[in-house]
Amino acid sequence: MKDLDWQNLGFGYIKTDYRYIAYWKNGSWSAGELTRDNILHISEGSTALHYGQQCFEGLKAYRTKEGSINLFRPDENAKRMQSSCRRLLMPEVPLEMFVDACKQVVKANEEWVGPYGSGATLYLRPMIIGVGDNIGVSPAPEYIFSVFCCPVGAYFKGGMKPTNFLVSDYDRAAPQGTGAAKVGGNYAASLYPGKKAKSLGFGDCIYLDPATHTKIEEVGSANFFGITKDNKFVTPLSPSILPSITKYSLLYLAKERLGMEAIEGDVYIADLDQFKEAGACGTAAVITPIGAIQNGEDYHVFYSETEVGPVTKQLYDELVGIQFGDRPAPEGWIV
Ligand code: COI
Repeated sequence: MKDLDWQNLGFGYIKTDYRYIAYWKNGSWSAGELTRDNILHISEGSTALHYGQQCFEGLKAYRTKEGSINLFRPDENAKRMQSSCRRLLMPEVPLEMFVDACKQVVKANEEWVGPYGSGATLYLRPMIIGVGDNIGVSPAPEYIFSVFCCPVGAYFKGGMKPTNFLVSDYDRAAPQGTGAAKVGGNYAASLYPGKKAKSLGFGDCIYLDPATHTKIEEVGSANFFGITKDNKFVTPLSPSILPSITKYSLLYLAKERLGMEAIEGDVYIADLDQFKEAGACGTAAVITPIGAIQNGEDYHVFYSETEVGPVTKQLYDELVGIQFGDRPAPEGWIV
């Protein structure tokens, strides 16, 4: 294993040994291969550079107690990437090719998967970018599919400690736009509002639905969930939020393992009082408890600004337990 400060990694780029790369030319994908080179040499006319024709994914590899390595639901990332590709007129990567690429990258970078118990994981970043000579607003003639990886720790500074969020005046994505696709433009649009929120001491922004600004959509680059006072798991449903694999896993676990009613539906910002706990969830964020939300003059504290609520903790233990191989996984979740 590499000599890193595994307990204190944070979420940053670290160059690892190998990445996978495949090229789409003349209507088909080349056989992918591993390379040590982390620099892409692409045409200045690449659509990814001008028109944002690109998408990406995020998933993690986990070291188990026995020393083996788990991937969590990579087939779901493959399917979501295919859906992002359809939205941006890019060629889809077959599911088997996607999962195989992830496995190859993890195997080749095995020493970068942190020790069991350190909290560190290996974050995989698959991406597809439109490349080749082009200038008009049209799909690229060629594409690159690549998967690289970085060892990571907590995404939000506190990790499993409550973080506070600020409701943004800005929108992340339009109702029939690209909010449900994992495309760079959504994240570029979040940089400015995110910076403003962070400069005021918040972890990130809460985005409301762009049409009415009354309903919660996303928490920075993660999804929102709340636990109602009558113990229901509730998470927003909207065509402009990213369908988080972690969120769908939590909907399942809340219902099947914690015996809760689990609902996808509207979450009105004026109705935060219904929740005893709230959190942000995603591959990078895992589960980050929300301490408080600032919405204009209103400052709403959930369970606590310093302590994790008991239901959030139970969900976290169940999810992370499955990912690290300590708890039984539903069929097909662990590869
Ligand atoms: C993820 O949770 O994997 C994300 O994509 C969030 C962010 C790092 C972009």
